[in-house]
Amino acid sequence: MTVLVLGATGKTGRPVVDALVARGVKVVAASRNPGRATDGIETVRFDWADRTTWEQALANVDGLYVVGPYAEPNGAVLVRELLSAAPQVQRVVLLSVLGADLLPDVVLMAGWEADVRSSGKEWTILRPNWFQQNFGEGFATPLREYSTLELPAADAALGFIDTRDIAEVAAAALTEPGHAGQIHVLTGPESLSHTMVMAILGAAASREFRYTALTADEFAARLRAAGADDNSITWQLGLFTLIRDGVNAIVTDTVERITGHPARSLAAYAAEHAEAWRKGPVNRSERP
Ligand SMILES: NC(=O)c1ccc[n+]([C@@H]2O[C@H](COP(=O)([O-])OP(=O)(O)OC[C@H]3O[C@@H](n4cnc5c(N)ncnc54)[C@H](OP(=O)(O)O)[C@@H]3O)[C@@H](O)[C@H]2O)c1
Repeated sequence: MTVLVLGATGKTGRPVVDALVARGVKVVAASRNPGRATDGIETVRFDWADRTTWEQALANVDGLYVVGPYAEPNGAVLVRELLSAAPQVQRVVLLSVLGADLLPDVVLMAGWEADVRSSGKEWTILRPNWFQQNFGEGFATPLREYSTLELPAADAALGFIDTRDIAEVAAAALTEPGHAGQIHVLTGPESLSHTMVMAILGAAASREFRYTALTADEFAARLRAAGADDNSITWQLGLFTLIRDGVNAIVTDTVERITGHPARSLAAYAAEHAEAWRKGPVNRSERP
């Protein structure tokens, strides 16, 4: 079997490549800048926005891991079109999101799920909770520089998941029987508020971190000031509404059932990645 991994440089794609290689599966790692993909793995240029890249990326693959075109203006149709362009692909695993069916229409996951389900392929949909890796990647800078994380999440709990667990489930779904036609709701082992998360990261990095709850309006204003368009603001606010409504507090045993090991904890992730948050705080007067 040969699997094309889309988003292979991203938070789930990287470990999906690793998990497939560990199973002895041939992998083609896709990126808009393929030189950045993992050494020793076949790489290919793939850009949702540039269809001339699709044919070569899809050549000779029979499995597909899809991180969808969340930032493309015509992202609503591209997953369906890619699946049509890949008649030889038998199995597809789609990365969706927890609560995909509850989000506003501008959030494209529900449409992608429908496209995958009607593709005629052996499909599996992954609906993960928020990633632990956000704290070591996107949220690392405000934590490292200002010891602060500010989000419109109230102090609601989430079952944060390590993307390596998502990847192991994806690899199982791509290579084992029994996953076709399944929607796997994936979470970490416990439900944590952002205040609890700050304590866990702080203990790992020997620092004190603070979480501040923003209102939805404050958050939207910040996104707008940073150049976000209305669609992406609605998309983000929809995700945080679910969090505040308690939807993301769910903890499932799906990772353990499929991988055979307990889902990885945030404390373990924090211990491994403490360096990401270690630099001392800057003088607050330097804050932009
Ligand atoms: N972050 C979370 O907590 C979370 C939770 C649940 C679901 N999700 C979903 O996970 C997905 C990924 O989100 P993320 O923020 O974590 O990003 P990510 O996977 O860490 O990074 C985005 C990936 O997408 C690729 N990419 C971006 N634009 C592309 C394009 N035009 N064509 C081809 N590839 C492109 C990038 O590859 P190159 O730059 O190498 O091309 C990169 O590998 C989203 O759909 C999100 O809704 C995220």
